[in-house]
Amino acid sequence: MSPDARAAQPRTATHWQRFSVPYEFPVVFTEGVFDADNPALREVLARLEPAKRHRAVFFVDDGLKAGHAALPEQIARYAERHRDALELPCPPVLVPGGEKIKAELHFVESIQQTLFDLHIDRHSYVVAVGGGAVLDAVGLVAATTHRGVRHVRIPTTVLAQNDSGVGVKNGVNLQGVKNFVGTFAPPFAVINDYAFIATLPERDKIAGMAEAVKVALIRDAEFFAWIERNMDGLATFERQAMATMIRRCAGLHMRQIGLGGDPFETGSARPLDYGHWSAHKLESLTRHHLRHGEAVAIGMALDARYSVLAGLLAPGEDERICALLEYLGFSLWHPALGKTGANGEWTILEGLREFQEHLGGELTITLLGGIGTGVEVHAIDRECMRAAMAWLKDRASA
Ligand SMILES: NC(=O)c1ccc[n+]([C@@H]2O[C@H](COP(=O)([O-])OP(=O)(O)OC[C@H]3O[C@@H](n4cnc5c(N)ncnc54)[C@H](O)[C@@H]3O)[C@@H](O)[C@H]2O)c1
Ligand SMILES: [Zn+2]
Repeated sequence: MSPDARAAQPRTATHWQRFSVPYEFPVVFTEGVFDADNPALREVLARLEPAKRHRAVFFVDDGLKAGHAALPEQIARYAERHRDALELPCPPVLVPGGEKIKAELHFVESIQQTLFDLHIDRHSYVVAVGGGAVLDAVGLVAATTHRGVRHVRIPTTVLAQNDSGVGVKNGVNLQGVKNFVGTFAPPFAVINDYAFIATLPERDKIAGMAEAVKVALIRDAEFFAWIERNMDGLATFERQAMATMIRRCAGLHMRQIGLGGDPFETGSARPLDYGHWSAHKLESLTRHHLRHGEAVAIGMALDARYSVLAGLLAPGEDERICALLEYLGFSLWHPALGKTGANGEWTILEGLREFQEHLGGELTITLLGGIGTGVEVHAIDRECMRAAMAWLKDRASA
């Protein structure tokens, strides 16, 4: 090749790599998952290699101690009964429940240390039994240790069973930002055991219902009507109503993740996060004194009113949504909502920028075009939002 011809050769060559990985995992609904004769857990662990004895480390939310004091022994007994399929390299490990476990890396490191000490490999299991916070922290460790150890979730709160536990995310809070560090990592399996819900404090039972109202409002008018028809049973935590609500809500979340086209949220939208832009801000403004679901209920009420003021939602539907939330036990105002900054602006409005920052891209807020219909908008009129806040405040003091 002449020097001229060589110089004319392009200096850049781009080869496109492309592949896709199908994800599949079971979400099992059962009761008494650690009862010796319940095969659900054994079947889940053995589903790929039925003839093997599987190593599994269990991390258990210490909030379960009160209502399920014998849980660690029960897990050990289950493993003993199924010892042909299951081996515990150590007794179940208690970890702090609630947001504490996500507040610093100390607990993540200590869970990692346990996996290191026990020589947990990528074909072993890391099983998390607990609320959404424990699942998030243990899930992060499982996803990053050896670049991914099989992870089984056994959610024990309403919110974790009907929303976070069946999803594909994990994370902990750093730099004062919620879920600042985390990954998208589908679990190996999820087992929802209704027996755990019985011991949950009423406050957490109520809080978890916010996500059911949320997903009904943006995706399923019939489910919303079902919640309205069953609000007496739900407000009194009647078993059948609660179990059905959890299962339907989990199904709608799974559907969105599986069929919504963006399971790992690469776009600018968070289609399931109706009412969440203000909720996240409210959670941090109250230093997590408000539960996630409690903040979401307020956020949904605010955005329902805004949807009416923006001409998207029929007048009166905002009141209908608020009435249902209140009947279920939610309070739709918190003093932190009224907090203003040095410039006199409502601090909560900073939540719009923070919501956008978490994803990047264009601001995308889900509002309501009707009961059962989410609508994405890319701008929020602050005057109109202030009016929505004033309405909510007046309603609360009426
Ligand atoms: N990964 C996701 O996709 C996702 C989605 C939504 C929320 N989340 C996260 O989930 C967390 C909230 O989860 P949560 O609402 O399950 O609350 P939580 O995990 O904070 O638990 C609340 C309290 O209940 C206790 N507890 C758990 N199960 C219990 C039971 N059966 N009986 C009695 N007490 C019990 C816990 O110890 C804790 O004190 C937040 O950190 C939130 O960011 C994650
Ligand atoms: Zn939520």
